[in-house]
Amino acid sequence: MYRTHTCGELNISKVGEIVTLSGWLQRSRDLGGMTFIDLRDRYGITQLVFNMDTNAELCRKARKLGREYVLQVIGTVAERSNKNQKIPTGEIEIIAEKLEILNSSEVPPFTIEDDTDGGDELRMKYRYLDLRRNAVRKNLELRHHMAQEIRNYLSAKKFLEIETPVLIKSTPEGARDFVVPSRMNPGQFYALPQSPQTFKQLLMVGGYDRYFQIVKCFRDEDLRADRQPEFTQIDCEMAFVEQDDILNVFEGLTKNLLLKVKNIEFDGPFPRMPYSEAMEKYGNDKPDIRFGMTLHELTPQVKGSGFVVFDSAEYVGAINAEGCAEYTRKQLDELTDFVKKPQIGAKGLVYVKYLADGTLKSSADKFFDQQALIGWAETLHAQPGDLLLVLAGDRATTLNALSELRLEMGRSLGLMNKEMFAPLWVVDFPLLEWNEDSQRFYAMHHPFTSPCKEDIALIDSDPGAIRANAYDLVINGVEIGGGSIRIHNATLQQKMFTALGFSDEQAREQFGFLMNAFKYGAPPHGGIAFGFDRLVALFSGLDSIRDVIAFPKNNSGRDVMIDSPSTIEEQLLKDLSLEINLKAE
Ligand code: AMO
Repeated sequence: MYRTHTCGELNISKVGEIVTLSGWLQRSRDLGGMTFIDLRDRYGITQLVFNMDTNAELCRKARKLGREYVLQVIGTVAERSNKNQKIPTGEIEIIAEKLEILNSSEVPPFTIEDDTDGGDELRMKYRYLDLRRNAVRKNLELRHHMAQEIRNYLSAKKFLEIETPVLIKSTPEGARDFVVPSRMNPGQFYALPQSPQTFKQLLMVGGYDRYFQIVKCFRDEDLRADRQPEFTQIDCEMAFVEQDDILNVFEGLTKNLLLKVKNIEFDGPFPRMPYSEAMEKYGNDKPDIRFGMTLHELTPQVKGSGFVVFDSAEYVGAINAEGCAEYTRKQLDELTDFVKKPQIGAKGLVYVKYLADGTLKSSADKFFDQQALIGWAETLHAQPGDLLLVLAGDRATTLNALSELRLEMGRSLGLMNKEMFAPLWVVDFPLLEWNEDSQRFYAMHHPFTSPCKEDIALIDSDPGAIRANAYDLVINGVEIGGGSIRIHNATLQQKMFTALGFSDEQAREQFGFLMNAFKYGAPPHGGIAFGFDRLVALFSGLDSIRDVIAFPKNNSGRDVMIDSPSTIEEQLLKDLSLEINLKAE
């Protein structure tokens, strides 16, 4: 038997017992005639003691051990004279009587400590060592706990967990596909699923009216802190439901997770906000409603003053940074630099300080008198002591820039409390998005999303105005999940493909299997998928989903530990009937 106990469970009640422990050498200290070793496993740390006076040979052996050696120790549990209240085993130590070196270790490239000296790349290269650190382990434990709660909750609600294939068919919508060449079908490729979307709809046709799966999805898109090329969804679909039925089940799931995992009781329903309101008030379809500072439009109020920046703008809007009238020149310059960053794209920033004496001081004083500025302050419900930050330009860019500025102010003013969870449903998304470059509509969600019933009539005349029967769950400004009621009628689906610019033939070639299935009694259905990695990161208070994935990829989509992607053997290429033809950029 390698161990009788783990390194995290012995306490004062076990004093006098002879135990066997196995684990890694975290740290060792020689103090006079004694050697102390902290032995670590997944469950904790236990102190071992070797005494030169009572067992010199064993003590000398212990002194030769290095960090991360794998040890087995037999010894007696003893009360510690110098107790460590910070760890559960801190009242005891093990007086070692036998020591077995199960394995040696090279000196690890970084310290396996909470505050490690290892940089990101190094820790990713040696991820198996990083996984030994408390911080990473805690995240994976939380992930496990959440997955268990999700399975319990959904199973109790009669959802069946059903696996869907990983080698599927490439379709042009959404992100770019990862593809896999088929040896048995030369020149043909499978695609890895961006989501099990069509399969879960087919399961509804198959009569499995409540499906879920915690499932890997693959998308070849540009990576960010909240995006990985392979990520995990809690994917669900339900038949004979309307939007409210789905929102109720998944609101219930979210509340249950908050309660079971974070011990937070969330009273009342999650707020629901139409997409148009989210854009107007937050400049963003995933508003962080932990704090106010909403956007206010000033366009009609500021036109015609001779200030060309405003006069020529499609949209002028502002936020009220409460209590920030004392901002210095330097702070305002920093904010100006922030909004002028290329990815934000504002041309400049106009500010108005509402001073304590009731006067207003603006960077556009030349064009606007006190009366005008008071009008702005009223629109923004500003008080003396507040600071108005005004941006102008085309509507889409300016809304986005105001949204980024609001989030930046929220961050710097400490308004984004990580222990607070502010969920909401964003509803009534537009069904279609016009793309100027390709001169066609794209499905904002995916082509199977049903229009809102009231808007179906617009599909031939004004497709851009149709609202989708779609919804997103947003928590603290993170898009946690999205879904929709689906089209279950083959004729309407056909019309949707037409609106998306698919010829009948293209639609048949790509989605024929689904359209065929819909001829055989497809029930009304709808579903949702949560980004599981994002949900775990949110619950862990982390900004990057990489921290909650055991083996994540870096920002270039590489796994630096196994060094992938990589080239493949010439013979394999031949078997696959493939030739590499790398073009110089
Ligand atoms: P959607 O594309 O909105 O919907 O994806 C659902 C959720 O998955 C998460 N997500 C990601 N997480 C990490 N890395 C990524 N690259 C990534 N992409 C998406 C987000 C997102 O809200 N089939 C539909 C769902 C449905 O209609 O039922 C779908 O996949 O949290």
